[in-house]
Amino acid sequence: MSALKIAPSILSADFARLGEEVETARAGGADWIHVDVMDGHFVPNITIGVPVVKALRKITDMPLDVHLMIERPERMIDAFADAGANFITVHQEACVHLHRTLERIRERGAHPGVSINPSTPASVLEEILPYTDLVLVMSVNPGFSGQRYIPTSTGKIATIRRMLEQRSLWGIELQVDGGVTEDTIGDVVAAGASVIVAGNAVFNDRASVADNIARLREAAGDVK
Ligand code: DX5
Ligand code: ZN
Repeated sequence: MSALKIAPSILSADFARLGEEVETARAGGADWIHVDVMDGHFVPNITIGVPVVKALRKITDMPLDVHLMIERPERMIDAFADAGANFITVHQEACVHLHRTLERIRERGAHPGVSINPSTPASVLEEILPYTDLVLVMSVNPGFSGQRYIPTSTGKIATIRRMLEQRSLWGIELQVDGGVTEDTIGDVVAAGASVIVAGNAVFNDRASVADNIARLREAAGDVK
């Protein structure tokens, strides 16, 4: 049994067949479903929101891992919790009162997560780590799938893994999102990531979703 979790990002899936794509991911060995919510303000793109999470909740038991790339995410916590999100991750850069926002997510029965952009240092997490269930390291500038992995992310992942170990915070997931492929996943996992988000590496025309997930696990040195 593997400890590494793979969370395919539906941003790279075929939205016209979203239910089937999610089922194909589950059957192909995915652990979570990653839902990228963008508002056209925090990031230069607009994607999907609450109704899609609600619709997915009806068709899958898999954890729905909602990544909010939106300004003032505190306004939307209740709606995403009601829609059935299991994890709700907000950006540190978008939250003046990050602690309050994470506590609200927990009160509403979801796991709180905090994400940092490539230019944000790991040190901003020092005070907030005990209050989160997940840290999401963005390894591309958020906004689009299919971008290239930013190599300095690897050192940041290792730094955060050390911070978690030093504080004996063993239950917190360390998630990495952006440009993770067969070429980069080995370094990402070796640095200490426990959850891998993958968009284009999972949903593409080159191979089936199941084959793509199996290849990622193999390249990570993970056997399920
Ligand atoms: C980027 C999103 C990612 C993205 C990942 O802003 O947060 O989840 O869809 O896609 P890939 O794996 O193709 O970089
Ligand atoms: Zn994401």
